[in-house]
Amino acid sequence: MARIIRAEAVSPEEGAFNARELFIQAFGYEPEGVWSAPGRVNVIGEHVDYNGGPCLPIALPHRAYLALAPRADRAVRLISPQTADAIDDLDLDSIGPWGGPRQVPSHWTAYIAGVAWALERDGHGPLPGFDAALWSCVPVGGGLSSSAALECATAVAVDEVCGLGLAGSDEGRRLLVDAARAAENEIAGANTGGLDQTASMRCRAGHALALDCRDMSAEPIPFDLASSGLELLVIDTRAKHSLADGQYGQRRADCEEAARLLGVGQLVEVSDLDAAMSALEGHERLARRTRHVVSEIARTRAFIELMGEGPLEGERLDVAALLLDDSHDSLRDDYEVSCAELDVAVAAARAAGAHGARMTGGGFGGCIVALLPHHLVEPVKQHLAANYQARTGLKEEVFVCTAHEGVSVAKEAV
Ligand code: GLA
Repeated sequence: MARIIRAEAVSPEEGAFNARELFIQAFGYEPEGVWSAPGRVNVIGEHVDYNGGPCLPIALPHRAYLALAPRADRAVRLISPQTADAIDDLDLDSIGPWGGPRQVPSHWTAYIAGVAWALERDGHGPLPGFDAALWSCVPVGGGLSSSAALECATAVAVDEVCGLGLAGSDEGRRLLVDAARAAENEIAGANTGGLDQTASMRCRAGHALALDCRDMSAEPIPFDLASSGLELLVIDTRAKHSLADGQYGQRRADCEEAARLLGVGQLVEVSDLDAAMSALEGHERLARRTRHVVSEIARTRAFIELMGEGPLEGERLDVAALLLDDSHDSLRDDYEVSCAELDVAVAAARAAGAHGARMTGGGFGGCIVALLPHHLVEPVKQHLAANYQARTGLKEEVFVCTAHEGVSVAKEAV
C-alpha cells in the first residue's frame, strides 16, 4: 500500500464515507456497515510486551475504515484505494499460515483474511466469506500500527456481521485481539507481541492504556496533558520501518535466550539487575538486551505511577522527561533498534526544549514522541524543519496527538 503522505487524520464521517464509496464502486452494492479501528502510539514501554512487561499506548485519531458485507459463499474479495483497479480475490478454504500447505495472502490482504482464518481456527466459525473495502489514514510504514488498525477493524466487523458477540465485553475483545495478533504473527509472518492490537482494540478516549503483558490485563488511566499546558508531539521521520525483516525476531530470540540462561520464563521475572548482569558475564550482547528490558520495565512502571499522582508539573515533569530520554538512550545503545534518523529527530526535539523525547514502536525508522509545553509546538516544528531534512535528506511529518477511542463497534452510518 502506498504511504499516505499526510499527518492529519480525517474525521470518522469522512473515513466512513470514503470506505463506503470505494465499496460501492468496486462491488456495485451497499455494504452492511463501516467499522473502524485506530493506529496507536506507545508513550513508553518499548520492546517489553513480548517479555511480559508493561506498556502505555494511546489510540491515534488516525483510523482504518472497513466497509464490509458478508457473502453467501466462502470468497473474500478486497479492495483499497491503492489497488482500486484490481479486486483481490481470496478463498477462506485455501488460505493458511506460513510454512503450511495453504496459500498465504500477500501484503495488506493478509491482515484482513488472516483475522477470519484465526477466528475460525479459534472455534468461532465456520464464517461466511465477505466483500470489504479498506480506506485508512494511518500512515503505513511509520510504526503507528497501521496493520493492527486493519486487523482490529476486520475483527469487529466480522464479529458483528457474523453475530459472534465478542466485541461487546472486555473479555470478548481480548479474544478478538488474539485473532488480530494471530493474523499478524501467523499469516503476515511478523512475530510481534500483543501491544499494537490491544491498544487498537481496548484504548479509551482521553486515556492511556496501562497494559500489563504478563496477563494482558489493562487499565485506562486519564491522559490529559492539555490541563498541564503540555502536548505529545508525534514526529514521523519517514525513514521506512518494517517488522517483517529479521531484526525484530532477533531481538526476541536474544531475550528468550537471556531468559533461558537466567532460569526465568520471561525477562519480566528478573528482579535483581546486578545479579542478572553477573550471570550473563561472557554474553555481552544478551546482557545489554536484558539491561534494556529490565530498566524499561522499571521506567514504564514509574511513568504510570507518575501519571496516577496528578498533573505532570514541576518535579514530576522533570522525572517524566528523564524517563522518556533514558528510554530512548537505552533503545539506542543497549537494544540497538534506533537509527540515524530517529536519533537526529530526538536530538532536535530535545535541543528545541522538549521535556523528553524518544523513539516509539518497533524502531529502525518510524516515529518519535516528544513531550513539550504547548507554546513550544511551533518552535520545535520550526527547529525540525530547519535541521532534520538537512541532516537526513528526508522530510518529517509532525502532528500533535491526543488520546482517542479504540475500535468502533457500532456500524458507522452508511
Ligand atoms: C512493534 C510490535 C509490538 C512491540 C513494539 C515494540 O510495534 O508490533 O508488539 O513489540 O514493536 O515495543
